[in-house]
Amino acid sequence: MKKETENTKVEVLENGPLMVHGSTTIVHTDGSTEEKQRATAFCRCGKTGNIPFCDGSHNS
Ligand code: FES
Repeated sequence: MKKETENTKVEVLENGPLMVHGSTTIVHTDGSTEEKQRATAFCRCGKTGNIPFCDGSHNS
């Protein structure tokens, strides 16, 4: 069972995504869920073609 006090690290990359480290459950706008392990990059620039994830478009 997952501990409620487990720490989550969110790393803000310069001119890039938010990196969320660790196991993550993502609830999409349609209510579907997705499990990610290790690290997930979330777009914060608005240019991605794969919302909510970073697809590298922030570099263009
Ligand atoms: S932060 Fe990478 S595409 Fe937006």
